[in-house]
Amino acid sequence: MSIQQKNHAGKIIAITSLLSLGYAILRYHIVGDVSWNDFPFFIFNKGIALTAFILLILNFSIGPLKNIGINVSEGWLNSRKILGMVGFLFVLIHVFISMLLFKPEIFGKFFEENGRLTLYAGLSMLGGVLAFVLLWVYNLAFKTDFKEDQKFIDFITSRKYLLISFLFTMLHIFFMGYKGWLNPSGWNGGLPPISLLAFTFFITGYIINFIGRK
Ligand code: HEM
Repeated sequence: MSIQQKNHAGKIIAITSLLSLGYAILRYHIVGDVSWNDFPFFIFNKGIALTAFILLILNFSIGPLKNIGINVSEGWLNSRKILGMVGFLFVLIHVFISMLLFKPEIFGKFFEENGRLTLYAGLSMLGGVLAFVLLWVYNLAFKTDFKEDQKFIDFITSRKYLLISFLFTMLHIFFMGYKGWLNPSGWNGGLPPISLLAFTFFITGYIINFIGRK
């Protein structure tokens, strides 16, 4: 019989999704001039990518936050597993949508005039694919019966492994966005790009992990 643990995962996921989607809508539709026709796929994809990113960062930062001495409730601690699983599911949605949208007409900045990927787009997408595969393996490792090499499984399911796989996510975000980050005069309504917000969460999560590791 399993015991139901008190957790806030549902609320955390709902609020993170609303804020992330809300930000994408504000930046691209309300202060920007992207047509609402693009909401269900192109803009939704940005919102879901940011939500996934934040949920995964919360997943590996809540424990260290408690170690630092912040008053983290049981409900937050018990939410970590669900946040990780749902974060991965949202990444999966982001990956499927991105693959369907990946064309020069939509992502002009990723392509040269001759239709080839730019160097930075290539590095960004390589980072994204590697991060995705590493996150996938992380999720699989929890469900495996493959106990011959327990040390290996322990490593794959560790916070250290997740932190390493997130370095690739950082490459994904960095090479995609850093040129835009350096040009605030070009930001829609003065609002920072989603990739920069994600990068800020990334740095904050890493600092918390660095200080609060055990
Ligand atoms: C096969 C793997 C992946 C592919 C093909 C991919 C593709 C893309 C593309 C094409 C964009 C640009 C979206 C846009 O500007 O509208 C993007 C942005 C983004 N991706 Fe990924 N991605 C992958 C993996 C990941 C992973 C593992 C994460 C981690 C959560 C992630 C998080 C993000 C975030 C936060 C953005 C920023 C959205 C923005 O600035 O608008 N991606 N990705």
